[in-house]
Amino acid sequence: MSSYREIYQRSVGQPEAFWREQAEALDWFESPKQILTQDAKGLYRWFHGGKLNLSHLALDVHADGGRGDRAALIYDSPVTDTKRTYTYRELRDAVARTAGMLRQLGVEKGDRVVIYMPMMPEAVMAMLACARLGAVHSVVFGGFAPHELAVRIDDAQPKVILTASCGIEFTKVIPYKPLVDEAIRQAGHKPDHTVVFARPQAEAELQPGRDHDWASLVEQAPAVDPVPVEATDPLYVLYTSGTTGKPKGVVRDNGGYAVALNFSMGALYDLDPGDVFWTASDVGWVVGHSYIVYGPLIRGCTTVVYEGKPVRTPDAGAFWRVISEHRVKTFFTAPTAFRAVKKEDPEAKLKQQYDLSCLKSLFLAGERLDPPTYQWLKEISGLPVIDHWWQTETGWPIAGNPMGIEPHPEKPGSATFPLPGYQVEVLDSGGDPVPAGTQGNIAIRLPLPPGCLPTLWNDDHRYRESYLSSFQGYYDTSDGGYIDDDGYLFVMGRMDDVINVAGHRLSTGEMEELIGAHAAVAECAVVGVEDELKGQMPVGFVVLKDGQDIGHDQLEQELVRLIRSEIGAFACLQTVMIVGKLPKTRSGKILRKSIRQLALQDDVKVPSTIDDPSSLEEIRDAMQHEGVGRFRQP
Ligand code: COA
Ligand code: AMP
Repeated sequence: MSSYREIYQRSVGQPEAFWREQAEALDWFESPKQILTQDAKGLYRWFHGGKLNLSHLALDVHADGGRGDRAALIYDSPVTDTKRTYTYRELRDAVARTAGMLRQLGVEKGDRVVIYMPMMPEAVMAMLACARLGAVHSVVFGGFAPHELAVRIDDAQPKVILTASCGIEFTKVIPYKPLVDEAIRQAGHKPDHTVVFARPQAEAELQPGRDHDWASLVEQAPAVDPVPVEATDPLYVLYTSGTTGKPKGVVRDNGGYAVALNFSMGALYDLDPGDVFWTASDVGWVVGHSYIVYGPLIRGCTTVVYEGKPVRTPDAGAFWRVISEHRVKTFFTAPTAFRAVKKEDPEAKLKQQYDLSCLKSLFLAGERLDPPTYQWLKEISGLPVIDHWWQTETGWPIAGNPMGIEPHPEKPGSATFPLPGYQVEVLDSGGDPVPAGTQGNIAIRLPLPPGCLPTLWNDDHRYRESYLSSFQGYYDTSDGGYIDDDGYLFVMGRMDDVINVAGHRLSTGEMEELIGAHAAVAECAVVGVEDELKGQMPVGFVVLKDGQDIGHDQLEQELVRLIRSEIGAFACLQTVMIVGKLPKTRSGKILRKSIRQLALQDDVKVPSTIDDPSSLEEIRDAMQHEGVGRFRQP
């Protein structure tokens, strides 16, 4: 067996030969004519000329290839008290009919479909049905408010929206249809149809002509065969937070994604066909796309769709219960989820109730796996605990411990090594590599491996501006960190105005735009401060317009409500402080980094370019008064 080093060297030294071999593991309708090309716009593309279909790879290959009666998907929903297993044949047939339903509504190859659904099997079926038709899905996380859904509808211009009558958060039923109706009202683009999956917990009002009942349509729909698409055709658009109010539409192609996911399932997660893989995330995030839906199914594994939380559904033993009951081999979630478990069950007593002999490793991503949580997981599990780092943009992990190739000793706080295909370097602000152990900007030398975004939806210009313009010949990850003497990568956090709240990526720039539009607000800054449970929490600093006499409590309440109603409750803005002045440079740039540092430590170096040093003192006093960051009372 080759070592990690050999495989890695080959992947970057002979990328075309390496990825051609990986591509051969899949059942293409037509093999690629070229492995790596640059299109007319100079953007890199993988597997030009290849034809395939991801619904075929994820379902038909297994259903017709002797695995039809094996479990493809296990739905476990403590919030609805439901458990159901779908075999590969059952899932394929359901997806083929869902595709038939979409086709009867006029959806064809290249058309967009927005999916706004909770964690239920029909959400997975909807994604795979789009893939089957060659339609482009855009899943919007169910926690997003109507405004965010509207922005995505306007950008993706879908023919159809697929939704459910409600989602369930712990015991709270959240009707989705009114949110969809409001989003369509706000959007300039009006989809032709909305299809609603009726759940018993909430009834949805259907508008005749536009809205349809899912079950009635599927009942009459014909089964549809997979439509061959080009490797370079888009499979989906997934919107993610950038530094402004307009989210970025990350484009994922078909061929590169299928090859990269299949590779990562073996090389990183060490999973073979028939193994059970559970990713506790949401189909609204990239983690859900790659490792609840496409990755495990393409690999012929069993995937678990869990509609519940780490805690209170019904207790902090939920993860252990599901792992044990469904014989999960590899479990993947966000560190924040385990921090929630640790808070409620610090000695992991609930774990003792379950036979966890099936479980071989724990994978964590979505935010940095902080060393205390790593140590706790190590102590209570005795298993490999693998931090791995990636982004919506890359679609699969950039760095991790390659368990299926050659497991390496773990280092707390490190995502281990770059995975094959990724040439990761740490650069200074001038674009020069820094020595080992020195922090800098983490960049990936071009070309990116298969599976990573080829561009942004309808916006090549923003793609180049956002990712390719900082460092010539590199993709800028916007994450900062360092590589140590042994080659281990430590990813320490974002270098831009993106924050990570409970594993959810959010733009402080967008929050500032919303807060700045409030009638009483002259200007504002939002920064992410460390939070023991959620990693980071947004905190707002506001300067009032002259003559405004609104009280602090009223303003804070209004702004908290504003963020909840415009972005979503999961954005978690809870604290707003009124200050006389924001710390700025003499040229007027707000010193957000200094504010962030002040929340962590007292000895913040005051930048020489600061306009008025007393403004930072005022911020520190305000944080102390509100108990923010290091001033928080235990
Ligand atoms: N639909 C509607 N609302 C949602 C939602 C969804 N899908 N997800 C979250 N929300 C709401 C919650 O109901 C809550 O609303 P409230 O303020 O009215 O109570 C708010 O957003 C905050 O939710 P959350 O951040 O989830 O906090 P919590 O205290 O309810 O739960 C955790 C804490 C740690 C259990 C939870 O954040 C969690 O499971 N995190 C893991 C996230 C994850 O898997 N991320 C993976 C990305 S890879
Ligand atoms: P998202 O696009 O929502 O997956 O968020 C991607 C961002 O989350 C990255 O740019 C990082 O800032 C952060 N992130 C994800 N995984 C890790 C990790 N293992 N270590 C450190 N940061 C991470």
